[in-house]
This record gives sequence, structure tokens and C-alpha cells, in this order.
Amino acid sequence: MFENQFNLICETINSGILILDKDLNVKFWNRWMEVQTKIKEEDIKDKNLLDFYENINSKILSRKIKTTLRLNSSTFYNSEQINYLFDIKLNKIADSVFYNMQQSITISPFDLEKELVVVYVYDTTLLRETNYKLKKSKKELEEKNDEFQRMINALTEGLIISDEYGNCEIINKYGKELLRLKKNTRIKEKKLLDFVCEKSKDLVKRNLESGDIRTYEVYIKRDDDTYFPAIVSGQVIQLDNKKKRISTIIDISNLKEKDRLITRQAKLADMGQMIANIAHQWRQPLSLISTTASGLKLYEELGKLESQTLNDSLDQIMLTTAHLSQTIDDFKNFIKDDKEKTVFDLNEIIQKDLTLLEGIIKTSHIKIVINRKNEDIIMKGYPNELTQAIVNIITNAKDVLEDRNIEERYIFIELEKINSYGYLRIYDNANGINDDIIDKIFEPYFTTKHKSQGTGLGLFMTHRIIKDSMDGEVVVKNLKFTHKGKEYKGACFTIELPLHKL
Ligand SMILES: Nc1ncnc2c1ncn2[C@@H]1O[C@H](COP(=O)(O)OP(=O)(O)OP(=O)(O)O)[C@@H](O)[C@H]1O
Ligand SMILES: [Mg+2]
Repeated sequence: MFENQFNLICETINSGILILDKDLNVKFWNRWMEVQTKIKEEDIKDKNLLDFYENINSKILSRKIKTTLRLNSSTFYNSEQINYLFDIKLNKIADSVFYNMQQSITISPFDLEKELVVVYVYDTTLLRETNYKLKKSKKELEEKNDEFQRMINALTEGLIISDEYGNCEIINKYGKELLRLKKNTRIKEKKLLDFVCEKSKDLVKRNLESGDIRTYEVYIKRDDDTYFPAIVSGQVIQLDNKKKRISTIIDISNLKEKDRLITRQAKLADMGQMIANIAHQWRQPLSLISTTASGLKLYEELGKLESQTLNDSLDQIMLTTAHLSQTIDDFKNFIKDDKEKTVFDLNEIIQKDLTLLEGIIKTSHIKIVINRKNEDIIMKGYPNELTQAIVNIITNAKDVLEDRNIEERYIFIELEKINSYGYLRIYDNANGINDDIIDKIFEPYFTTKHKSQGTGLGLFMTHRIIKDSMDGEVVVKNLKFTHKGKEYKGACFTIELPLHKL
């Protein structure tokens, strides 16, 4: 009864079972062994195992068997040293690693008197294969990780990887330098916002929440509490089902410094222009004052000075002086920086520009043709800066009309409101801008004028003011048009500015 049960178990179990005596003669060979080795029990029974498997290391196996019997307890083959006992070829599966079935072997005492042991053979191919693959992918992962570290460390911008709540996880080498991370600061204990200056925090919070990819300017706080201006951008990626944010930081302190220098130079250049303008505008009133004064002197010398003449002349002089001081105020206001945004009418700005430029426009014999399509074009922003932007365009038109000796000189100014934008078009009849330079004219220091005349900063400032301060656009193209039946060609600058929402 038991023997039957024993047999049943041996035949159905999914492992090899065989019984050996201490000389390695086979006494039992279960069904699994038959199937796997393709050797029938009847063929191998009472024969020596080595006759069938000459490659088996008989010394080790015999020693193991003897130990088992002597100690009356199970022994194992160390799986690290021997991967299989029976050479069983595997059907080659596409991605399998091994050619032979990997086995783990247990030898247990069976009959001490007859000196028999039972040998269990377990197929561990799958396990080992999994293990092997696991090790391989771990190695690959480590390599990839190394590669990744090397890669992010090679970046010339700071990089921080954080989780979706802004907890920092990884920072690259350059990032550590930028943020002047102290030796004892652990990046994993920091939040992204810890590295943002108070005044930039709201902006960063908003951008973190909105989750879209953006590049924007902020002030970054270093680990030593100093700070610097930076351009940052963030991108959210999905990694192992978790959201990660990759943030990059570029230090723009140097750029900012350059920017400031250019702006200052441009301001100085503008100041020069303005002084030239004042000189123009003062010439006439000054000569008026001087003639009136010398007239008075003449009358007095001739003894013909009447009190009426004296009064009239003094009135004239006072009026002209008032005009002079008004011009000075206009220029002073213009040069002054706007501190706050104000609401203004574009029509008024144009009026102001033309007053400022009145002098030089007259001396250059230029006719201004204004076409106002709307009563009011209300916007909000920095009127003095906008005035400067427009003055630069008109001054250029004046320059080119003079330089090219255009006979009849025109500057056209058109103002119009379309939907929620105000449009200002300024064009001249000086034949336009060469195609090969038209793309460059907004760049700083680009000029076709002689050194003493142009710095090449005029249109650069115009562009900056319109785009950055006024949230608008400025574009240029060459235009052909007719005026009073005549055909003309010239550069046309179009400025688009958002209207003020009431
Ligand atoms: N209306 C125009 N017609 C033809 N060329 C123009 C016109 N306006 C600008 N340009 C060209 O664009 C160049 C750049 O203009 P920008 O105002 O930036 O500098 P600039 O006038 O040369 O010097 P700056 O204004 O600093 O004194 C000019 O040198 C000129 O060649
Ligand atoms: Mg200019």
C-alpha cells in the first residue's frame, strides 16, 4: 500500500527522483527522469550511472553520498559551483540563456543498511534564468544610471529633478555650483521653492501649478542666501507612473549686465539726439529774443523808445521764454523714466512726438501726413517709453530722407483701431531698406551710418520697448504707394499695441 503510494508520488512529482547506492548504481529512476533524460528505468536500473553520464564528477558525487550516509542527513550540491548533474539539453527557446537544464540537487539518506540514498533533481532553469536576467538588467540599469549622471553633469545649465510636489531628488554638478550647495545640505531635504527669491515665489508657484512648459525669468536664491537672475524652465515627465519635474536654471547675471549697458548707451544716444532737437527748437525763439532785444537797443539809442514798444517787446520776449521753458519741460519729461503704467491716448503720443521733433522736421523740409482713423485709441503702459520708440522711427526716416537727397520728403503716420488692437504705421518715401539688411535692423549696434552719426541702438530700443514694456509687436517691410498721383517707395514700420480694456 505505502509502496504504491510512494510510487505514485514519485511518478507524478514534477522533479527527478532516483535512488543510488554508494557505488553510483541506479536502483530507482522515476518517470520525470525517464522523460527528461530519455533513458528508461528498465535500461538504467542496476547499472552504473557513470556508464550513462561519464561527465559526472564521480569523486564529488561519491563523497556527497558517503557524507549523507555517515551523517544520516541531507546534503546539497552548491548551486554556485555546479549548475547541473545530468546533462539535459533544452529545447532552444528564443531568449533563453542556458543550453542545459539547470538543476539543484539534494541527496538524502534512504536506506542506511543497504547504503542507499535518494537523489532529488529540481529543474531550476527558470529561476536561474530569471536571476541571470535580473542581474543583467541591474547591471544595465547601473550603467544607464552612470550614463545619465554623466550626461546631466555635462550640462552647462543647472538641472534639478523633483517630484510633482516640488521635493527635490536629483541635482547635477553645475546646479550644485550655481546654487552654491553647502557640503552638509542634502538636496532631498529641499523643495524647489527653497531656491526661489521671495519676490519671484508667486510667479514660480503659478507656473508650477499650471504645469506647462515655460521659460521665464526669476531670481534664484542660493544656499548661502545670495541671489542671481536666471532663466528657468520646467517640464513634467512621467516616470514609473509618477510625475517628475525637470527644471533647468541658466544664470543670466552676465547677460543682464550687458543688457543694462546697452540700455544705458541707448539712453545716452537718445539724450544726444534730444539735445540736438532742443538746439533746433531753440534756434528760432532765441533769434527772436535777440532781434527783439537789439531792436529795443536801437530804438533806445535813437531816442525813439516808446513805452508801448517797450511793453510789446518785453511781452514778446516773455512769451518766447515761456515757450523755451515749455520745450525744456517736454524734453525733461520725455527723458524721465515712467515709474508706473498710465492710461493714455495713442493720438496724444503722436502729437507729443511731433512737437518734440518739430524743429528738425522743419529744417529738413519734411512734410508730415497724418491720417487718424479713430478719435481715441486708449491704451495702458509707459507713454514716455513709447514716445521714445516712435521718435526713433521718425528720426530714422528723417535721416534717410536727407541722406538720400530725396526731393519731396514725406513721412506718413497712420493710426487705426482694429478689434482689441491699436495700429500705428509710419512710412516714408526714401526708397526703403535693402533686402539683405532688413532682417538685421532691430539688432543692437546694427547701423549703416557713419560712426559719428549712428550707434545702431535706435531700433533695438524701439523693438525692446514695444515688445517688453508694451506687450506689442513691431515689424518692418518695404512699401510701394501713391500719394497725390505720384508713385513712391519706402520703409514702413507697423506697431501693434493691445488696447486698454475698460
Ligand atoms: N526708414 C528707413 N529707411 C531706410 N533704412 C532705414 C530706415 N530706418 C532704419 N533704417 C536702417 O536701419 C539701420 C538701423 O537703424 P537704428 O535706428 O537702429 O540705428 P541708426 O539710426 O543707424 O543709429 P542710431 O539710431 O543709434 O543713431 C539704419 O542704420 C538704417 O540703415
Ligand atoms: Mg536711428
